[in-house]
Amino acid sequence: MRSRRDFLKVAGCLTTGTLLSHRFAWAQSGKLKVGLMLPYTGTYAALGNAITSGFKLAVAERSGRLGGRELEYFTVDDESDPSKAPENTNRLVQRDKVDVLIGTVHSGVALGMVKIARETGTLLLIPNAGAAAATGELCSPNIFRTSFSNWQTGYPMGKVVADRGLKNVVAITWKYAAGEESIGGFSEGLTKGGGKVVKELWVPFPQVEFQALLTQIASLKPDAVYTFFAGAGAVKFVKDYAAAGLKGKIPLFGSGFLTDGVLEAQGEAAQGLETTLHYGDGLDTPRNKAFRQAYSKANKGEPDVYAVQGYDTGLLLAAGLEAVRGDASKKNDLIAALEKARIDSPRGAWTLSKAHNPIQDIYLRKVVGTQNKVIGVAHKALEDPARGCNMKKT
Ligand code: PHB
Repeated sequence: MRSRRDFLKVAGCLTTGTLLSHRFAWAQSGKLKVGLMLPYTGTYAALGNAITSGFKLAVAERSGRLGGRELEYFTVDDESDPSKAPENTNRLVQRDKVDVLIGTVHSGVALGMVKIARETGTLLLIPNAGAAAATGELCSPNIFRTSFSNWQTGYPMGKVVADRGLKNVVAITWKYAAGEESIGGFSEGLTKGGGKVVKELWVPFPQVEFQALLTQIASLKPDAVYTFFAGAGAVKFVKDYAAAGLKGKIPLFGSGFLTDGVLEAQGEAAQGLETTLHYGDGLDTPRNKAFRQAYSKANKGEPDVYAVQGYDTGLLLAAGLEAVRGDASKKNDLIAALEKARIDSPRGAWTLSKAHNPIQDIYLRKVVGTQNKVIGVAHKALEDPARGCNMKKT
């Protein structure tokens, strides 16, 4: 027979157990704090908005919950200004105490976020910025990229251009990591094919005064021009290139950011432009069509590559949180789940490399009307070389 003491012991355990399970339930059902640090003003404002809309669509498709948790958003406009990155990131990490940091578009700002993510161990998902170091020399178990590396979108175009017998190429871009690395990748592909970047022309970010440099291109008479510009800068460059009388005379190529999300604004000046990217709005797959339909229903405009990257960030986070049933404090299990996720993306399925960058097909696209039509695969399952990445084990 049980004594009264035994009974009290059992009752005590039950109470403690109940308390524990209540706390456990609370930890899982409280809202997950998501920090969105993106550009909502300036040259890249449209990109930041598209990423946000894409991410929120993925969440809405899961009835507003990832791994059973509702989300609470903390939003910062990073203005694509690297000098403000430490303060903006710290606001989300130290003040708001977000569980996950999502950002950003601009490579220089992203590197500021990477630094703080490494110092604090905060989970960082990069939905655009292609800076090599994020999944290269600064790679880290808690840092993941759902978009591309700048090298990845330039390298395949180098081969395409060389294969067409266009060997002497002038490159023109913004002077910061994205432009430098995009041209670096392109140059590597071009050189392999027997061509050469004969001149590099630089514009400070986010300036859009191209006239003098376009005059220089006209007098250099290269076989082709390669460029990285994006957002509002891409609109202006493509229009100025045509207005300078270069379109149709010297073929213009670029990473696909040149024509993504901007075709309405570029109009006639963009027709026929060929670019390489990990997405094409004309991708003829049921997955892409379903996504495009859902996105246009939930938002005003049509989706672009940035919307896809935001959406895929939602898919990746969902995969991770489902594996730990919403308990983001289970860091190692969460990271392990993110690492092995296979993302069924509108761009085509992708997985992550050991350095946490997507291994993905890079398409060759051509502008037809207001569409980036996919006309081929420039490089199948391309993996970034991840130079300098020495991933620590968690
Ligand atoms: C970047 O800064 O890494 C960047 C920005 C805009 C793009 C692509 C890359 O469209």
